Amino acid sequence: MSDLDAVIYGAAEIAAVRSGEGSGGELETIEDGAVAVRDGEIEAVGDTDTIVAEYPPENAEMAIDATGKTVVPGFVDPHTHAVFAGDRSDEFEAKLRGKSYQEILTEGGGILRSVRATREADDETLLENLLEHLDTMLAHGSTTVEVKSGYGLDTETELRMLDVIERADERHPIDLVPTYMGAHAVPEEVSAEEYVEDVIDEQLPAVESQGIAEFCDVFCEEGVFDVEQSRRVLEAGIEHGLAPKVHAEEFVRLGGAQLAADLGATSADHLLHATSEDVRALNDAGTVPVLLPGTAFGLGAEYADAQGMLAEGAPVALATDFNPNCYAHSMGYAMTLGCVGMRMTPAEALVAATHNAARSIDRPAGGLLETGAPADLCVLDAPSFVHVPYNFGVNRFETVLKDGEVVHGE
Ligand code: NIG
Ligand code: FE
Repeated sequence: MSDLDAVIYGAAEIAAVRSGEGSGGELETIEDGAVAVRDGEIEAVGDTDTIVAEYPPENAEMAIDATGKTVVPGFVDPHTHAVFAGDRSDEFEAKLRGKSYQEILTEGGGILRSVRATREADDETLLENLLEHLDTMLAHGSTTVEVKSGYGLDTETELRMLDVIERADERHPIDLVPTYMGAHAVPEEVSAEEYVEDVIDEQLPAVESQGIAEFCDVFCEEGVFDVEQSRRVLEAGIEHGLAPKVHAEEFVRLGGAQLAADLGATSADHLLHATSEDVRALNDAGTVPVLLPGTAFGLGAEYADAQGMLAEGAPVALATDFNPNCYAHSMGYAMTLGCVGMRMTPAEALVAATHNAARSIDRPAGGLLETGAPADLCVLDAPSFVHVPYNFGVNRFETVLKDGEVVHGE
């Protein structure tokens, strides 16, 4: 048998997220707990006495004394727009003075401004920017991150963005999940109809030949892509081998959630204006609702109805939505907002930020802390997982392991 990679022992708490019987993951906490890791996987989880008797820390390549600390699964961030160039911090100030997100976009700012900066940037700059954001995410406990294209809005730049995501995935310990989002906004040069034709006839075939993207996402929103245009894009995406995702019901209830359900989309994201009927349709279709409380917080908007979704038994997931409009790298902070803004319990928020998030990017074996799961683990300098959302504005993550190897901290 191969050597043990690591034994983490004496932890004040192990937050053992399991796949669960119901629709989403479940949490069991273990006091004075330990985890044994072999070949990059979790071999055993339990109380320290039992684990240490069977897996003596001195026999492992690495022994981590976690006295007073907490072990949680690595976070899965299932919705980011982390490849871009340029700075939009002045829009933060404009929004504080009362400008709306849509006004900024209509005036050629917002996404369109990031598009201009991204088109102008060379590949190395985009790659360096992305790697820097990933370093910050890793330091805050994320070990798997979905990243969307969508600041190119032309074939060449969209492909460049996907290529940058692939290169970052090869270089960085975080596992990246690539999504093509050519239908993120209507470029200034053309109408929405003309642009949808370009996405379907030019971009999607090129994206398929490049072979990097796994999902196709669309911004189904008033003033961006309507339901029919979104449907055409996503159906074409399916034909080109990309599973659908939808930015749905963010500013108005347009019908994106029902569309996601109709198409059996992997996830429907935002959902600030989704109704209980929408939530039931998503549940019936097995579409995971991904909530982005950082976006609502940053825009001063009302949060999504997480309580209603949980009451319907939906496997609610959380994400940062990291992008130039929501400059938030931390899943822990998304958990804080999930708790304070949407009244999720800390346990619901942790499951949402790990296993349910993994399901929303079609990684049903991800975000777990149980025997056989990949050893993506974080050690927190805090006595319980509740401190992740409770202790906001600081970073308590001390050590992060990816596939059993220390990739952050010591
Ligand atoms: O998910 N809402 C659309 N897309 C992003 C924002 C992108 C941007 O403003 O640059 C989101 O919030
Ligand atoms: Fe988004």
